[in-house]
Amino acid sequence: MSPSPTPAYRSLWDSLLPIGRDPGTGGYRRFSWTPADLDCRAWFEAAARDRQLRTERDRNGNLWAWWDVPGSGKPPPGGPPPGGAPPRVGTAVATGSHLDSVPDGGAYDGPLGVLAAFAAIDELRGEGFTPSRPIAVAAFTEEEGGRFGVACLGSRLLAGAIDPDTARELQDGDGITLAGAMRAAGQDPGLIGRDEDLIARLGCYVELHIEQGRALADLDATLGIADGIWPHGRWRLDFAGQADHAGTAALADRRDPMIPYAATVLAARQAAAERGARATIGKVTAEPGAANAVCSEVRAWLDVRAADGRTLEDTVDQILGVAGQESDANRVALASRQESFSPEVEFDVPLAGRLAGALAARGFEAPSLPTGAGHDAGVLAARLPTAMLFVRNPTGVSHSPAEHAEDADCAAGVAALAAVLRDLAS
Ligand code: GLV
Ligand code: MN
Ligand code: MN
Repeated sequence: MSPSPTPAYRSLWDSLLPIGRDPGTGGYRRFSWTPADLDCRAWFEAAARDRQLRTERDRNGNLWAWWDVPGSGKPPPGGPPPGGAPPRVGTAVATGSHLDSVPDGGAYDGPLGVLAAFAAIDELRGEGFTPSRPIAVAAFTEEEGGRFGVACLGSRLLAGAIDPDTARELQDGDGITLAGAMRAAGQDPGLIGRDEDLIARLGCYVELHIEQGRALADLDATLGIADGIWPHGRWRLDFAGQADHAGTAALADRRDPMIPYAATVLAARQAAAERGARATIGKVTAEPGAANAVCSEVRAWLDVRAADGRTLEDTVDQILGVAGQESDANRVALASRQESFSPEVEFDVPLAGRLAGALAARGFEAPSLPTGAGHDAGVLAARLPTAMLFVRNPTGVSHSPAEHAEDADCAAGVAALAAVLRDLAS
């Protein structure tokens, strides 16, 4: 029989669902350090408080709720030893995900992993389980890069995978820097960066996430275990031409940035199709934006993902090659730069084996699958053993208000996560 969601799990959803939801589209706009994000943070702290978990906001703004075990998992007193990182004394089993969203994101991408973590703790408590290793629930900041452009920013900062000075200067669409946004929200941006004390307290990280494709539905499987993440990145392309009159400027005289931009969109599709990769331009602005004028500038954001680094590089080279040629042919200046990059990730094989064993003991079969979606677990994989559990998404649609997972599948995810935490924290 499929498990069904508990009243406590439902009440977690009921209190989270209204936050940051656009009434027109039904999608979520939970961008980091905005009022919606601060409300999500308050929700997290209340959920932790209700469960007598100790909350902590780390130096990078990530949230943690700790089920402490007396005398375990604390960093050594007096800070790191001279000349090096502190030893890995941490044994904590961390789980969680993120609460921020893409523009008009779905309800599950991120929040499901955080809710499932709290619900799994409820389940373990209900069974009378006492962990011998601390269990931590995390909610990472700016996972989507929806405001400042760099995906998994909170976990990157924690892991030391981005320079804090560069991060502080990142700007949102209104020119507000990360430093300014953090300061306005009461978080000191001077403290951001690699946090070895916290990393050293963690033994492993297991993230539960809605699947962002249809692989599990096609396999008729409720749950899956990730084996890796495709390498992926984002590039910003600025095409600068010259504004002119739509009715009088002769076609031959125009320097219209929309032409090389349009060729680039088609080239992205072609280059990805040739290699079984993914290439997307999902964000574009045209300046000044008059219906009766040739525009002066087009800014476009290109997202490319592929099964391996070489294929990714070839795909990007082909797209940027066309962007350059078409810009030259139209006397348009092109400036392109990488905004974010995540190398290929292979999740920890022994940890994935532990997950499979814990799930099998509960009667869940969970196939292994790779994913083209990025996750904090991928960033943290460079620093500690990490693993991911996926919950079936019947349509595969994600980053959209139509994203959905059935209640019974989510409840199975909670039960599976509880089994994994029980196994790892025993
Ligand atoms: C996040 O979901 C991403 O893959 O961009
Ligand atoms: Mn996402
Ligand atoms: Mn996500």
